[in-house]
Amino acid sequence: MSEALLITGCRQLATLRGPAPRRGKALRDLGIINDGALLIRDGKIIAVGTRRAIERRKDSRRAKKFDVGGRVVLPGFVDSHTHLVFAGNRAEEYEQRISGATYEQIAKSGGGILSTVRKVRATDADALYARASKWLNDFAAHGTTTVEAKSGYGLDASSELKILRVLAALRKHARLEIVPTFMGAHVVPPEFRKRPDAYVNLLAHKLLPYVAKEGLAEFCDVFCDRGAFTVEQARLILTAARACGLAPRIHAEQLARTGAAQLAVELHAASADHLEKVNAADIRALAKSDVTCTLLPGCCFHLGLEHYAPARKFIDAGAIVALATDFNPGTSPSLNMQLVLSLACTQMRMTPAEAICAATINAAYSLRRAERIGSLEVCKFADLAVFDVEDFREIPYYFGVNRCWLTLKNGKQVFERSSTGL
Ligand code: NIG
Ligand code: FE
Repeated sequence: MSEALLITGCRQLATLRGPAPRRGKALRDLGIINDGALLIRDGKIIAVGTRRAIERRKDSRRAKKFDVGGRVVLPGFVDSHTHLVFAGNRAEEYEQRISGATYEQIAKSGGGILSTVRKVRATDADALYARASKWLNDFAAHGTTTVEAKSGYGLDASSELKILRVLAALRKHARLEIVPTFMGAHVVPPEFRKRPDAYVNLLAHKLLPYVAKEGLAEFCDVFCDRGAFTVEQARLILTAARACGLAPRIHAEQLARTGAAQLAVELHAASADHLEKVNAADIRALAKSDVTCTLLPGCCFHLGLEHYAPARKFIDAGAIVALATDFNPGTSPSLNMQLVLSLACTQMRMTPAEAICAATINAAYSLRRAERIGSLEVCKFADLAVFDVEDFREIPYYFGVNRCWLTLKNGKQVFERSSTGL
């Protein structure tokens, strides 16, 4: 057995203890312990409580001690929607949009997702791996300990597999946890522009079964929206995915209302993401279901759109709400979950506690990991982030400022701001 680690000095220890997922008022309960402490061994939490209670334990006396100096401790952020593996950037399109072109106009003229696809196809696996590893260090530096990552910038068999294999290598070697999602159905690739259904069939009948057999993905996602895939095409792909053991996720109702949210309910998807364009019936249906509504306010911010997803309506209707960055080069080039909390609070009127709940335990639930991560409870992994603030509300309050001071993944340090002495 390895040496235990006793962490004290948590002015607020937000445990997020209790049942998952959280709906309605339960999203406001962070289970805060003032002057809290944690005892960690072999990467897992073996005790959590007040400093007094934990220090009294016999196994605490022999443990290595670390005082976080009166800071705020949260479960590490679970970023449940990213497009981690890409090449290049789209700063040029960013400037074009500022000058008046829309995201969809740029996409129609061959830019957008397809411009990143061209770069990814031309980049070898080692270079993609190196870039993604660097991004993962940045995720850790902002308090994130688990990252869902989608393929989808390859759009042909070899390039999609190249991305998924990069993710498999990262799963083995990176210090953060990576959750791989197959998203061959991001948009129709140019080779299939005139026969999109042939591409859908290729995905459903060839690529998906192979990806599943090789264990290269846990989830399958489809961009079901105007200019991407129809509800019928998405149903076909996600039904095939489910048959091979990959749980569905859906990019839904971002650019236009197409019925994708209702499809998520019909298929018992793990998550429906974006949801800016939902109507009242969609909100009701999602709220009654077990589909996590993953809101991505970074997209609206970056695209300069006014209409954020109706987070208040989702929460008040009883839906399972999660928050994620949607880190990608086109619509949300930020991996900072603290900024996502700020946007959720200021632009979508979520309270800081609701936003933290959505970014931890509910996001873990959407990734089918609520038993292991997303809260600081006995037997769970010691994934936590320490913030240099006195109150958890300061985390979204200091928007765009990284207050993360220390990040632990499975009890191991993956980021420290300055030499913390751990
Ligand atoms: O989640 N909506 C589709 N996919 C991404 C955008 C990807 C891109 O523009 O490169 C999203 O917003
Ligand atoms: Fe996305």
